[in-house]
Amino acid sequence: MARRTLSGMRAIITGASGGIGRALALELAGRGVRSVLLARSSDKLDEVRDATAEIGEPAIVVVGDVTDPAARDEVIQLARNELGGLDLLINNAGVSASGTFADGSPAVMQEIFAVNFFAAAELTRHALPILREGNRPMVVNIGSILGHRGIPYTSEYCASKFAMTGWSQSLRAELASEGIDVLLVSPGTTETGFADHLVEQRIRLPWAGMKGVSAEYVALATARAIERGKHEIVPNWRGWWMLLAHRVSPRLVDAVMARLARRRR
Ligand SMILES: NC(=O)c1ccc[n+]([C@@H]2O[C@H](COP(=O)([O-])OP(=O)(O)OC[C@H]3O[C@@H](n4cnc5c(N)ncnc54)[C@H](OP(=O)(O)O)[C@@H]3O)[C@@H](O)[C@H]2O)c1
Repeated sequence: MARRTLSGMRAIITGASGGIGRALALELAGRGVRSVLLARSSDKLDEVRDATAEIGEPAIVVVGDVTDPAARDEVIQLARNELGGLDLLINNAGVSASGTFADGSPAVMQEIFAVNFFAAAELTRHALPILREGNRPMVVNIGSILGHRGIPYTSEYCASKFAMTGWSQSLRAELASEGIDVLLVSPGTTETGFADHLVEQRIRLPWAGMKGVSAEYVALATARAIERGKHEIVPNWRGWWMLLAHRVSPRLVDAVMARLARRRR
């Protein structure tokens, strides 16, 4: 994998109106990256654009839904016409829900997959021709530690993030010969508004309120991983330990998870 200098690169970041996406927009702006940002909240996006302008080149913002093909097309056209190309595609927009699988619905499952997986996959497919012409191009997928280990009461989200893990690994192999890198970032609990933006809250998660790392920490780790051409990172020590425990003794982690699930009932 190629090492890269971020200065002068051109990026698309989805879900950049808050949380990790906003932190990434600012971290990259500070390193000389020019970005097109996509999210649904116009006011929040304007605030992020103004914040990028204070530290670097002002970002271009697109108010739209990542599941809408027209919005995906618009960000790519803007990258081509306003930035002169694309080097980094950051698939960050994501949503979740809480509750048992049994009490869930096809609509919630479909909405979570539509945002977390299908939109990212189709935006990437659409972006590949312009990425092929980019400078040391990279697709950056913001997955989750829950894309490596499932936990109770958020099965739709875990499934969507497992899909992102598998797809990222397939894509990495397919694009290696074209010089396009694929980085999978798997954050653990991160202090953002994520838990307040659930598409459906059927229960209060037992671990809600658990202390996490900051969005800025995840953004810094991601920027460094892009520079160093890493394949996969887990920017969260608690999450890292959980994945290690799962690898060493998946049955033990199964037992802990089942106990956690029983306690909630
Ligand atoms: N926070 C955590 O503990 C954690 C842990 C692991 C992984 N992650 C992952 O990190 C990523 C960012 O999450 P976050 O923690 O920063 O949560 P967040 O603060 O809720 O940010 C989510 C972002 O996604 C955008 N978004 C949601 N649905 C969208 C849609 N249909 N179209 C366009 N944009 C949409 C939101 O903007 P609008 O509402 O304005 O559209 C917002 O900018 C997600 O992929 C999440 O799964 C988070």
